[in-house]
Amino acid sequence: MKRERWTGKMGFILASVGSAIGLGNIWLFSWRMGAYGGAAFLIPYLLFVFCIASVGLMEEWAFGRSQRKGAIGAFKNVFESKKAGTGALGAALGFIPVLAVFAVYIFYAIVIGWLLKYFVLSVTGAFSTMNIPEYFGTFTGTGETIGWHAAAVLGTMVIVLFGVRKGIEKANKIMMPVLFSILVILLIRSVTLPGAGDGLAYMFVPDWAKLAETETWVMALGQAFFTLSLGGATMLVYGSYARDDTDIPSASMQTVLFNFIASLLAAFAIIPAVFAFDLDPAAGPGLLFVTIPNVFDQMPGGHIFGILFFLSVVFAGFSSSVSMLEPAVEGFMDKLGMSRTWAVIVLSLVAFVIGLPLDTSMARFGLWADIATVYVLPFGALVSAVVFFWIFGADNARAEINKNAVKRFGKWFEPYAKYVFVSVALLVMILNIAFGGIG
Ligand code: TRP
Repeated sequence: MKRERWTGKMGFILASVGSAIGLGNIWLFSWRMGAYGGAAFLIPYLLFVFCIASVGLMEEWAFGRSQRKGAIGAFKNVFESKKAGTGALGAALGFIPVLAVFAVYIFYAIVIGWLLKYFVLSVTGAFSTMNIPEYFGTFTGTGETIGWHAAAVLGTMVIVLFGVRKGIEKANKIMMPVLFSILVILLIRSVTLPGAGDGLAYMFVPDWAKLAETETWVMALGQAFFTLSLGGATMLVYGSYARDDTDIPSASMQTVLFNFIASLLAAFAIIPAVFAFDLDPAAGPGLLFVTIPNVFDQMPGGHIFGILFFLSVVFAGFSSSVSMLEPAVEGFMDKLGMSRTWAVIVLSLVAFVIGLPLDTSMARFGLWADIATVYVLPFGALVSAVVFFWIFGADNARAEINKNAVKRFGKWFEPYAKYVFVSVALLVMILNIAFGGIG
């Protein structure tokens, strides 16, 4: 069977941008930027995302492209080529990132389910008649979410069933432009609300004192890794479908930039509106499922803006969830010789069934989400970096990243990747555990 490919650089970048832009941009970035110093937060954020996490992005892409395999096959090849007989060990190691991202998918699909429900609530205009804060508590953690969860798994399944080009790429080519357009519309609405000024000040005015606090830097670093979908599986498998003439350094700068713009748009679509209605910007689910419905309930034209908002977040969710399912699908196809159709169906069922107990208990949901993102995912990111830069070798890695690039990395990149990037990836893992989650 011939390996699938993106149609070109644009399709590859859009799919990667789609993976990068997700709930992390919407329910974490906007709040964090405000809480950790406003414009001042952009200093550590941009530093980490452009100078550190982008190395991880290029590493995963180039790793996948050089081996034309997902993590399991790629690790296996590299191990085997260094020392005959160690391939199985490599494959076993490569299994970790795939599993990690699949574990993230399992709970992410549940959140997309909630979003689908809220999208429907916004369409029917239900926010105006319901007790919004109470509703979220009585809906999540109950059997009522199961049907929505199923819809999210089904939606992801259908996209991935159609494959790399006709499924993932096509879906992103539709969803990304719509997402950006909606965010721009929402931003204009948000910043022109009476009272939006306080929110703008909260976001813009730099609070330099925050830069003296360790936590600001830690959160910016966690954000950088999570937002670029680093974990050793997603970007790696996306890279394995990239053409040899794809300029990886340039693609990575574009992906990082688009992802940053999306984060900023989301932040300015959300925070000024929250301030305009005297609400508190919250972090995480509370922002998306309580504060924001409240905002749209009070805003002139809130019905239509609410529909647009939840549609855009649903798109952000699906463009990420497909990238979490694909690594396992590739693994099943490559290792077990399964057809894409069967791999997708089996894995979707598995993800759904494992997710069921998380549907009905927020405690279990929280525990699962923590284990997946705090412990397993950062480990996957670290392992892939070590295998690529240390075992495959920093010189080979640099050559793969530079292949057909206009601007190439010099020799300095090798120690930088091997020592600086890998140490930071290790630090991300440690900080995740120490802080109970930073991504
Ligand atoms: N980057 C996405 C976000 O910000 C999440 C995401 C998608 C992800 N695919 C991933 C995170 C793979 C880690 C690994 O929401």
